[in-house]
Amino acid sequence: MLDYGSLDVEGLRARFKAHINGGLFALVAFMGLDEAEIEAEGWLVRDSKGRQFIDCLGGYGVFNFGHRHPKIVAAVEAQLRRQPLSSKLLMSPPAVMLAEKLAEITPGNLQKCFFANSGTEAVEGALKIARLATGRKKIIYTSRAFHGKTLGSLSATDREKHRAPFDPLLGQFNVVPFGDADALVAAVDGDTCALIFEPVQGEGGIFPAPEGYLAAAREACDKTGALLIFDEVQTGMGRTGKNFACEWDGVAPDIMCLAKALGGGVMPIGAVIGTPEVWKNFEENPLVHTSTFGGNPLACAAALAACDVLIEERLAENALLRGEEMLAGLTEIGREFPELINGIRGRGLMIGIDFNNGDIAELFIAMMIELGVFVAFALNKPDIIRIEPPLTITSEVVAEVLTRIRAACAHVQGIMSELI
Ligand SMILES: Cc1ncc(COP(=O)(O)O)c(C=O)c1O
Repeated sequence: MLDYGSLDVEGLRARFKAHINGGLFALVAFMGLDEAEIEAEGWLVRDSKGRQFIDCLGGYGVFNFGHRHPKIVAAVEAQLRRQPLSSKLLMSPPAVMLAEKLAEITPGNLQKCFFANSGTEAVEGALKIARLATGRKKIIYTSRAFHGKTLGSLSATDREKHRAPFDPLLGQFNVVPFGDADALVAAVDGDTCALIFEPVQGEGGIFPAPEGYLAAAREACDKTGALLIFDEVQTGMGRTGKNFACEWDGVAPDIMCLAKALGGGVMPIGAVIGTPEVWKNFEENPLVHTSTFGGNPLACAAALAACDVLIEERLAENALLRGEEMLAGLTEIGREFPELINGIRGRGLMIGIDFNNGDIAELFIAMMIELGVFVAFALNKPDIIRIEPPLTITSEVVAEVLTRIRAACAHVQGIMSELI
């Protein structure tokens, strides 16, 4: 184990600035996040000052199973001793077992898997496989969407601040307003390769798709031969109260992207899962898209154990119940602090607090850190704070988090009234 010993935190700060990113350090230091993370277990994280935090950020959607879930850690330890990385010449049993498991637990006829290492890679794979399958180029994406920051995924991500420095991005990517079924139906035509969106937008500010939107998307794609891609990188693996968020609408895509929690909070892994029809051209030209580390045994062992834990511990159900408690409590707090909070929305344990502006949201984060709770803003909409704790949390922890959120709002309200 890396010996943290008597960690020199001041030195670590200087080395972070010297060798990682000074601008990033300044950004986090401003919110009181300039300590080091030492260890974590379940929903708790401890830092170099000995402070303990309830993790309501969940690694931006990674820790559905909490930190170091014992069954997932044990599966990874066993695989580490057997074979962490494979030669890639012979078949790797964990990859085959995981592909079969995902075919079993995902909705619709998603039977084929390509493994990557992250969310953006899963989206890149999905976009390439869709173009390969249809021979068409045009991709439709949605306003506020976040699909990752590599060039292909960024071309479908709707934040000018992150896109503009890299123009020109990929051609034939067209944006439609998220949630507007008529606009979507009008945009999808016989030239469309694929329509990609998140069933609940995460980094766009926690916006669940309105009722009927997924069904309208399915129908438009079926009519025109376009492929429907659901990016469940953040919503998958129980987060919204179903194993996969599209199950709320009973609509299955042609291609699904998974990552984040798929690795059980222990290993990084991404996956593209598609129907046999979508995979046909890929099977004719199987080396057209590859990844050295994608589907490695360690990551697959973690993901396999994560799938088992998801089902055995009925985590989607717990996300739904605890999510209802959290949403009800937050709605009450929203009513108590209308000067700060515009609204609360979400599904399962993917909840957004919509603050009246970004400055209030920043003060709130700083206050929550003081009070021992990790939260952060949505990457594409900094006035929205997301609440995404491990799906293993109990009612008692939900109640404690609500108490601290109420206290943080009272503090922020006090500061705001002093400023006026
Ligand atoms: C819906 C969605 N897709 C893709 C990504 C990109 O994932 P990664 O950061 O692992 O590349 C994210 C990350 O937040 C995401 O929320």
